[in-house]
Amino acid sequence: MARKKIIFGNWKMNNTIAQARDFCDEAKVISDLAKTKDVIVGVAPSYLSLQYVVEHKESLWVFAEETHYADHGAFTGEVSIPMLQEIGVQGSLVGHSERRKYHGETDLDCNRKIKALIKANMGVMYCCGETLKEFDEGLAKDVIRAQVTVALMDLKESDLARVYIAYEPVWSIGTGKNASEEIAIEMCSYIRSIISELFSPTAAEKISILYGGSVKPYNIKGYLSSEEVDGALVGGASLTAKSFEELIKEI
Ligand code: 13P
Repeated sequence: MARKKIIFGNWKMNNTIAQARDFCDEAKVISDLAKTKDVIVGVAPSYLSLQYVVEHKESLWVFAEETHYADHGAFTGEVSIPMLQEIGVQGSLVGHSERRKYHGETDLDCNRKIKALIKANMGVMYCCGETLKEFDEGLAKDVIRAQVTVALMDLKESDLARVYIAYEPVWSIGTGKNASEEIAIEMCSYIRSIISELFSPTAAEKISILYGGSVKPYNIKGYLSSEEVDGALVGGASLTAKSFEELIKEI
């Protein structure tokens, strides 16, 4: 069965509750558009606007941008999976490069979070990607292999039903320097081959692998026209309903 394309917006530290409200005023339009195009559309808002977005999401998926692996405890400033579940959040991003860079998150931290999310029947959007230095040194595939292998450690094949992977080269995030379609296709299919090795060819066939990094209305179609790229994880162009609609219309 063909995998459905997925367009996911990562709002990062953008959009106040008032701005999230404006976005949600168009949630029905966006949901209808997604249905017409037969694609899955989701957003990951900041914690403060999560509840409002969940309550007004229509058929959009709503994930958190981040979560802690412990259910509760002395972790000042963190938000747990039960807290997210209580308000109806369906999953969380894990391992975004900005979390790795500014919060020192490691692949092992990501593994803990992924296991906790799966145990709670939540979705996982696992982000991986190499830095510019690693790319220039020809290390992209080695970096991705380590990031994927460690993050998915101890998972069963059936757990992968809740896991989505986003290949986001760090050098393409927020820079306007999007990776070429060739690079996106090569890396997404490389990740698929790793899944095949770690789990099985069937698991590799089923899992959705997205590209992220400066995806805009003018370039989204190129990525998604490949069978290897199952969608896009979008930052800047996902912030307003208008630009999000433009992305979906282009598919
Ligand atoms: P931009 O689309 O703004 O480059 O951000 C990509 C990203 O980091 C999504 O997680």
